[in-house]
Amino acid sequence: MFALSIENESTVDCFLERLCSLDQDLTRHFDTKLIIDRNLTRQIVSSQADKTRPKYRWYKYKEAFSSGLVEYVLGRYGVQSGTVLDPFAGTGTALFASSALGFDADGIELLPVGQTIIEARQFASSRTNKQHLERLRWWVANKPWETSETPKEFSVLRISKGAYSEETEMLIKKYLACLESEQDEVASLLLFAILCVLESVSYTRKDGQYLRWDYRSGKKGFGKKKFDKGPIAPFSRAICRKIEEIGFDLEKPDKEASLFSPTKAKESSGKINLFRGSCLNVMPKLPADYYSAIITSPPYCNRYDYTRTYALEHAILGITDIENLRLRQSMISCTVENREKDLLSINPSWNNVIGVCDAFPLLSEILSYLHAMKSNKALNNNGIPRMVKGYFYEMACVIQECFRVLKEGGMMFMVNDNVRYAGVSIPVDLILSKIAEDIGFTIENILFLPQAKGNSSQQMGVHGRDALRKCVYVWRKSH
Ligand SMILES: C[S@@+](CC[C@H](N)C(=O)[O-])C[C@H]1O[C@@H](n2cnc3c(N)ncnc32)[C@H](O)[C@@H]1O
Repeated sequence: MFALSIENESTVDCFLERLCSLDQDLTRHFDTKLIIDRNLTRQIVSSQADKTRPKYRWYKYKEAFSSGLVEYVLGRYGVQSGTVLDPFAGTGTALFASSALGFDADGIELLPVGQTIIEARQFASSRTNKQHLERLRWWVANKPWETSETPKEFSVLRISKGAYSEETEMLIKKYLACLESEQDEVASLLLFAILCVLESVSYTRKDGQYLRWDYRSGKKGFGKKKFDKGPIAPFSRAICRKIEEIGFDLEKPDKEASLFSPTKAKESSGKINLFRGSCLNVMPKLPADYYSAIITSPPYCNRYDYTRTYALEHAILGITDIENLRLRQSMISCTVENREKDLLSINPSWNNVIGVCDAFPLLSEILSYLHAMKSNKALNNNGIPRMVKGYFYEMACVIQECFRVLKEGGMMFMVNDNVRYAGVSIPVDLILSKIAEDIGFTIENILFLPQAKGNSSQQMGVHGRDALRKCVYVWRKSH
C-alpha cells in the first residue's frame, strides 16, 4: 500500500478527492456533536488564563491548559466526585485544579521537567511552614550564590550547550551548590525556582519544535535573519523575583476564586499521586473501572519536541544526552525522529484497537497519501508519515486504556489540535473520536473554539490558509 508514488498532478487530485470525501463522511457522522463553544477561548485552553493565578503562574509551561478549563468541563458535564486521571500530566494543571475541587487526582508524566514541577508544587503546598518561608526570605536578602566560592557542575547537553553567558552560568552553578546545604523542603523549592527562570536568563527561547538561539549566544548557522529575544534577565534579579513570588503565593490561604466556580473551592483538597514514566507502560497496570473522569491533553501531532525545548531544565536535573534521546523515543510519537514502537510487545491486548486503526479508511488514505508524497520527495521531512502513523496508533492504545480504567458513566475530556501536512488537513478530532467510538465510548461532543487556528507559516505559505480546529473532545463511557 505504501509503495505508491505520485506520478502526476491527477494522481494527487485523486488522492485529495478521496481524502475530502472520507473527511466529509466522518464530519457528517459527527455532525450533531461538533459544536462551537464560546466559553472556550484561546486563553482558557492554553496556560494564558493562568498567567497571574497564584501557584499556576510559577512555571510557564507553554503546552499547559488552564485550571479554568478543568473547572469548566467538570462543572458543565456534572462530574461530582471520585478520582480524576491525567495520563499526560505535564505540570499537573488537571491534578491541582481537580484536587482543589475535592477530587483525588492521579497523573502520569514522562518528562523529568514536568515530574519535578508537580512534585515541588505538591510538596510546597502540603509541607511548607513558616520556617521554610523565612529561609526563602533569607535567600532573597542575602543572595548566597553571589559570594559562594564553590560552583556545582551540571549536565551539559549537546542541544543546550552555551545557553548562558559565562557570568550567568557561574551564578547558576553556585546557586546549585548553595542549595545543597539546605533542608530538603527548602532545597526542593529553590531547585524548582531555578527551573522557572532558566529560559529568561538564557540566550534561548522555547519555540515548539526546538530551542531558538539569540544572536548574542555567538552560535553560528542561523541563516540571514538574526534572532533577538529581547532583554535577558540578570540571574540574581530573576531568581529573587521568582523566590519572592513563590513565597508570596504560599503564604496566602489556598482559596483563590476560580473563573468557573468562584465558590466551589472545597474545604479539603483531594490527594494527588504522580506516576513517573510513559502512560503506555503505566496505564495497563492501573485498575479497571476506577476513575470518574480523565482530563488530558496529549502532545499534538505537530512535531513539537519537548525534549529539545526543555533541554535547559533537563540539564539542571542531571539528564544526560543519552537519557534525553531515550525520553524522546518514549514520548507519544510527535516528532519526526520517533521510531515505530512495538505496541503489542508492551500490551498484547491492544491487538483489537490496532485492528481498528488498520481498518480505518480515512486514516489509511492519509497514510498512503503521505507515503506517496514521501516517495515523490514532496515532504519537507521523510519522518512525517511514520510520526503520523505512530501518533494515531499509540493514541488509540492510550484511548483503549482510558476506556478500561474509567468507571461506567465516567467522562473523558481531551484537548487537541488538528494539523496539516503536505497540504492536507488531518482531522485529528474526528479520527480519534471515531477510534474512541469504535472502542466503546459515546461521543457526547467535539467542542471547538470559535477562532480556528492556522498552521505553521511554512505550510501556509505553500498551501494557503485553511483554518484548523482546536478542540476539546468530550466522550462518555456508557454501554
Ligand atoms: C500538552 S502537554 C500536557 C500539559 C498539561 N495539560 C499541563 O497543563 O501542564 C503533554 C504532556 O505529555 C507528556 N508526554 C508525552 N508522551 C508521554 C508519554 N508517553 N507518557 C506520559 N506523558 C507523556 C509530555 O511530556 C507533556 O508534558
